[in-house]
Amino acid sequence: MPMSLRMTQPASPLAAATSLPIAAASLLRPAHGDADLIGEIAAGLLAPAAHCSPKFFYDGLGSKLFEAICELPEYYPTRTEAAIFARHGADMAAAIGGGGTLIDLGAGNCAKAASLFPLLRPAQYVPVDISRDFLLDAVERLQQRFPQIAMTALGLDFSAGFALPASVRAERRLFFYPGSSIGNFTPEQAVAFLRGLRDNAGADGGLLIGVDLVKDSAVLDAAYDDALGVTAAFNLNLLRHLNRLIGADFDVTQWRHRAFYKADAGRIEMHLEARAAQTVHWQGGSRRFAEGERIHTEDSYKYTRQGFVDLLQRAGFASRAVWTDPAGWFAVIHADVIAD
Ligand code: AVJ
Repeated sequence: MPMSLRMTQPASPLAAATSLPIAAASLLRPAHGDADLIGEIAAGLLAPAAHCSPKFFYDGLGSKLFEAICELPEYYPTRTEAAIFARHGADMAAAIGGGGTLIDLGAGNCAKAASLFPLLRPAQYVPVDISRDFLLDAVERLQQRFPQIAMTALGLDFSAGFALPASVRAERRLFFYPGSSIGNFTPEQAVAFLRGLRDNAGADGGLLIGVDLVKDSAVLDAAYDDALGVTAAFNLNLLRHLNRLIGADFDVTQWRHRAFYKADAGRIEMHLEARAAQTVHWQGGSRRFAEGERIHTEDSYKYTRQGFVDLLQRAGFASRAVWTDPAGWFAVIHADVIAD
């Protein structure tokens, strides 16, 4: 008999990021309306150095393009992390123990967590993702395959902070945050975000997180500017998403993908660069872009192993184990909540 599948649906497709960390009441508060969404995006587009949050990459097509990125030879993080899970999954499961509550942040197609189910044997699985319909499709299929695991899907933007509904078991919560998505936050934001998780995990809670490590910049540059142009398409698709979200008139052919590693800042930056001078309009606003002017769309921070263990400590987590690949390109870290 299939277990119940619940989908918590915010009133708008996206709840805008407003504050960090997780606020206890944020799920109860009405989701942001379109006016807030337009306001948030417009503020970024109108800033002297135009920017747009990477969370807007993930419409239906964007989520599929990201899946394609994960299959690229240049994009090492996904397969390197998968190899770490394949090689050390049994050790991880032994450290974590079965029967817990697995809360999967940015679950996407849920494939990473699903591959750990046989080892981790969670009592409950709680995937969370901003791309609600994409998530619901994935969870429906997963529930058929694992009828013994209770599943509660949450379609929301967790970067702004969220409270877990009462249907999420309080015992032995493990936040699962793979793929180095933590890299989208600045280090300061990452501490605040992780502290929010820690405050929601409970005294017996923990974290299993994937972190991309500092490495040769040529490897990093290629991973974010691949030969097939899939990452370029992923970046440019943001403009099509904005056209729908705020009624903008971006012409995708007038922009180009830029991505590079900034060693001093320890991060990949992605930008969209105007191929020619142009004016872009949207509901209630417009901006002129000069030729070569950019919209900053993503930061992807890279850490040293010790640097991230220190960051976890600042967020109230004690690292218990760090697993890496032989080349030391990626780390998976298991950490426990530090008691108050
Ligand atoms: C999903 C944030 C982990 O930073 O590597 C991949 C997103 N952007 N290629 C990353 C991304 C361009 C990815 N994260």
